[in-house]
Amino acid sequence: MLFTPLTIRGRVIRNRVWLPPMCQYQVEAGDGRPTDWHLAHYGARAAGGFGLLIMEATAVAPDGRITVGDLGLWEDGQVAGFARIADLVHRCDALLGVQLAHSGRKGSTWRDLPGFPQGVQPVADGGFQPVGPTNSAFPGLGNPRGLTTEEAAALPARFADAAQRADAAGLDVVEIHAAHGYLLHEFLSPLTNTRTDCYGGSFENRSRLLREVVEQVRWVWPEQKPLFVRVSATEWVDGGWSVEDTAALAVELGPLGVDLVDVSSGGNVIAPIPSAPGYQAPLAAEVRRVSGLLTAAVGQIDEPGLAEQILLSGQADAILVGRAGLREPGWPERAAAALGEPSPLAPSYRRGALPRA
Ligand SMILES: Cc1cc2nc3c(=O)[nH]c(=O)nc-3n(C[C@H](O)[C@H](O)[C@H](O)COP(=O)(O)O)c2cc1C
Repeated sequence: MLFTPLTIRGRVIRNRVWLPPMCQYQVEAGDGRPTDWHLAHYGARAAGGFGLLIMEATAVAPDGRITVGDLGLWEDGQVAGFARIADLVHRCDALLGVQLAHSGRKGSTWRDLPGFPQGVQPVADGGFQPVGPTNSAFPGLGNPRGLTTEEAAALPARFADAAQRADAAGLDVVEIHAAHGYLLHEFLSPLTNTRTDCYGGSFENRSRLLREVVEQVRWVWPEQKPLFVRVSATEWVDGGWSVEDTAALAVELGPLGVDLVDVSSGGNVIAPIPSAPGYQAPLAAEVRRVSGLLTAAVGQIDEPGLAEQILLSGQADAILVGRAGLREPGWPERAAAALGEPSPLAPSYRRGALPRA
């Protein structure tokens, strides 16, 4: 199944081995624009056979960056760099998505690269003031400024503007980042959202911001292009956002035009995470069962046999291969060889294909 095409809204994704969003922190100029690094990084993995590549967390506003090295789509001058990558990826027969993100209270950290300090990049050192649902901090990070109701209500339009720019760049998929303790997840969780306005309190209120984001993105994102949402399906702590909450949320997101839920977990609070190969796939299965939406499974799915098994057992419709795809741009070729499928490598690489059994 891994090499069976998946068609969403008439767009054919040629296989089900996808690259999940992974921050590169390579925007040295701090202007959110893709660099040669991004072209090489995404190009290599498209040539390596990934059917869909979801570009890393891309900020919808300057204060929605995790680091000043993040990509952004908050202004028109950023579009051309994305278009260049889309052209290359399309020439490799792959599709290109982008994860639209707001970092919330986890914004303005140093880049997670050698030579940089850890923790907060202070305003005085070129960082910025992060915002959050309240002014309470993620452990070890600085205090965000709590958003006013008006400021929260203005955010969905920022996501929609960024989606329009992604469309102008020729991208095929938008994924809204509502996972890993960033802003939209912070609003969903009762552990980080203690607001008393229309964005806090009940499940409906806590999920309002995400629903508004989805609605406003769907208004401008072309009807024939897929829309994904990434969630942390559980926070792995009692009293936190749960898989039941996620499934209930997915039931509401479907009619708003979300096609696929990318099911991750954790990241909003410090918690023991039982990570192991494929450990998040049962969460994807539950979301898929309850909502009827497509799901993508992610998390230590490093072996082709495990990926195939997750698809065959109906837990998910696609597999995201993250860190293994960093160390091995041609992971899909190895998987195809192991499963006896034709090579997904770009034509110029075909003579480098592995032998088939
Ligand atoms: C270097 C790196 C950067 C990441 N950046 C993002 C990101 O921008 N957005 C996101 O949702 N997840 C991000 N993640 C999480 C991955 O998308 C993925 O969910 C995670 O690595 C688990 O999959 P894996 O075990 O196949 O690596 C990142 C992970 C890594 C290793």
